[in-house]
Amino acid sequence: MPRTLRPVWLAALAAGVLLAMLGALGVLAPRAAAQSTLGQLASAAGGRYFGTAVSNSALTSDTTYTSILGSQFSAVTPENAMKWDTVEPNQGQFDFSGGDQLVSYAKQHNQLVRGHNLVWHSQLPGWVSGLPLNQVQAAMENHITQEVSHYKGSIYAWDVVNEPFNDDGSYRSDVFYQAMGTGYIADALRTAHAADPSAKLYLNDYNIEGTGAKADAMYNLVSSLKAQGVPIDGVGFETHLAIQYGFPTGMQQNLQRFAALGVDVAITELDVRMTLPETSAQDTTQADYYSQVTNACLAVSRCVGITVWEFTDKYSWVPGTFSGQGAADLYDSNYQTKPAYTAVANDLTAAAGGTTAPPTTAPPTTAPPTTAPPTTAPPTTPPGGSGCKASYAVSSDWGSGFTANVTVANTGSADTKSWKVSWSWPGNQAVVNMWNAVYSQSGTAVTATSQSYNADIPPGGSTSFGLQATYSGGNTAPTLTCTAG
Ligand code: XIL
Repeated sequence: MPRTLRPVWLAALAAGVLLAMLGALGVLAPRAAAQSTLGQLASAAGGRYFGTAVSNSALTSDTTYTSILGSQFSAVTPENAMKWDTVEPNQGQFDFSGGDQLVSYAKQHNQLVRGHNLVWHSQLPGWVSGLPLNQVQAAMENHITQEVSHYKGSIYAWDVVNEPFNDDGSYRSDVFYQAMGTGYIADALRTAHAADPSAKLYLNDYNIEGTGAKADAMYNLVSSLKAQGVPIDGVGFETHLAIQYGFPTGMQQNLQRFAALGVDVAITELDVRMTLPETSAQDTTQADYYSQVTNACLAVSRCVGITVWEFTDKYSWVPGTFSGQGAADLYDSNYQTKPAYTAVANDLTAAAGGTTAPPTTAPPTTAPPTTAPPTTAPPTTPPGGSGCKASYAVSSDWGSGFTANVTVANTGSADTKSWKVSWSWPGNQAVVNMWNAVYSQSGTAVTATSQSYNADIPPGGSTSFGLQATYSGGNTAPTLTCTAG
């Protein structure tokens, strides 16, 4: 089902795309281009968002904080304001004031809101864990229904279940698991979907960024939920890293395998801590970690965005949680950007300008077409024996953008030396990224030509390329023309 983003969000993303693309093309003065915000750059880099967790106390008291928050970021996540202990501290008594405050700020600043979170073992009021087990399901469903309904239409994505696994990949034996077994997860997702069918629904966890038992457990869960038709749209990778523990193994490939299940993936709580005191050598390593995370996301077409868990060390949760550690964020406590900020901005700029290498894995993913069925251009086989046909299928559509696969088949009697697929978009679709083909778009007209490594298609054979594009209004499929050289 296409998910609809609110018009203000579309406007913000479109403005970001335009600004950053102009910057990347050198249309803006270099000074202006250098000042593109993280949100604008992420938007130009494949229609993604760049967000941050927000502390409500900073939101209401610190004007330097709010001015950076409003300009740099295109998405926000309440750091605590939507958690169970804040929202329903006593059974049936709801307090949405903190979340409302952030939603209202986000609307004024054209930002997406990630809702965090609905069901979690932590920051859970004592009355829930003290319930007789046969009352837990009703309490959980009521909590979800009340909260999701309250924010219906304002939340881009919900972390429905947070941190369901232990580090060894076994299920965390919290009150929900004790009451309902593993079925609480599907029940929570279905309940949230009923309350706001257009919010994207995520499972979110930490230490699943790289391959390992915990990532496998999440992978198997998502795979089984998809097989059962449970509404699940995405997986959140918290990505709380520490330079002393090394970078997660195989992060890009891991994100890609989740995406291949037909879900979005997102970096939801990125920070990179170090042992204090902060040194410039540690800052350099930290910048490299931020850069690796950014590039892993950029290489996976269904990695929809990155959220940092606070942008300034001034309000980071790290020193209060990990003794002797800190300095984990993009800005220091005095709001000066750190090397990590520059690294992320540079990576996004490179991706926005199309200067990155094509992905080595094979995006996009295998989600079923959500709009029109594949359209196939009639074969055009000139007498010389060369000819091809191209067919187009949308693989994912999230209301403001989509990915599509184009298959190019050789209908002639000789190997192709090159091929070109061209079309005219029926609407305002705009390509932001293409892999396994070189593209240009002018107005509505798009051409995609073969790369050196996939130009040669044997007779009867085929190859494919993928694209990501933005749109608003309808997303009607175009009619393709294929010519073979
Ligand atoms: C943290 C907040 O940052 C702190 O302010 C709070 O005291 C504890 O929770 N994983 C999550 C987040 O999903 O909700 C946590 O946020 C950090 C770890």
